Amino acid sequence: MPTIIDGKSQAKDIKIGLHREVGPLKENGVIPGLAVILVGDDSASQVYVKAKGKACEEVGISSFQHRLDEDVTEDEVLKLISELNNDEKVHGILVQLPLPPHLNERTLTEAINPDKDVDGFHPYNIGRLVLGEPYFQPCTPLGIMRLLESTGIELSGKEAVVVGRSNIVGKPVALMLLHRNATVTICHSKTREIQDKVGRADIVIAAVGRARMIQGEWIKKGAIVIDVGINRKADGKLVGDVDFEGASKKASYITPVPGGVGPMTIAMLLYNTVLAAKRRQSGLKAS
Ligand code: GUN
Repeated sequence: MPTIIDGKSQAKDIKIGLHREVGPLKENGVIPGLAVILVGDDSASQVYVKAKGKACEEVGISSFQHRLDEDVTEDEVLKLISELNNDEKVHGILVQLPLPPHLNERTLTEAINPDKDVDGFHPYNIGRLVLGEPYFQPCTPLGIMRLLESTGIELSGKEAVVVGRSNIVGKPVALMLLHRNATVTICHSKTREIQDKVGRADIVIAAVGRARMIQGEWIKKGAIVIDVGINRKADGKLVGDVDFEGASKKASYITPVPGGVGPMTIAMLLYNTVLAAKRRQSGLKAS
């Protein structure tokens, strides 16, 4: 049987550590603050935003949630972002995705001051990541790297296969693995013989958003399997992108869904927010 990588417990430990860091900041008059903008009433996004607010409360971060109507104009959102960029109480700004189709994700992301871009989605921060000189790194990939590090297994020289090429997970985690000297393959919807590629991997990162797409038999014996997928089945149950039972027969380490990558994403968002507050206090700026 594989070792289950317990993201929930690791996220809890990270939050305890952050809570300890927030104390001295507060004594110096700095209360880390995170502003979250949620547009419309997408039910999954509402759940995530609520969880982010609760997590902020746990570690002593001020949370400012801005819920905007589905039909808000881009100019109105840009005005809010500009106000938050200039608000001293706010160290981190996050626009919850996905956005309604009339709002341009790129325009809004670029409007956020890179020093407050705790999602790590601004082209400045993506560019720094590509260069191997990261400033703010995206939360889910950062959480995945923490989970991999927790296994104590050397990443250098390993074959890593990332299934999924999103800007939020697939591309950035591939870069992070590359910077740790893994040999990285990115698979996507047009990839041929995906099963063979996954079958060669020492490390599999599944981030496609399709329930149980990665079958247990595909996994190489002893591989580390990180499942980023959160898919809700008709019966309400959450399942990952990996067939957990099947993959557990082959993997040495595997993350569960729920309780794997998900809690780490939120922990890393808090980590980035505290980092933003510490940088402001010390006068460090992006450019
Ligand atoms: N929607 C799904 N994941 C994320 C994330 O990491 N950040 C934001 N802003 N929206 C998301």
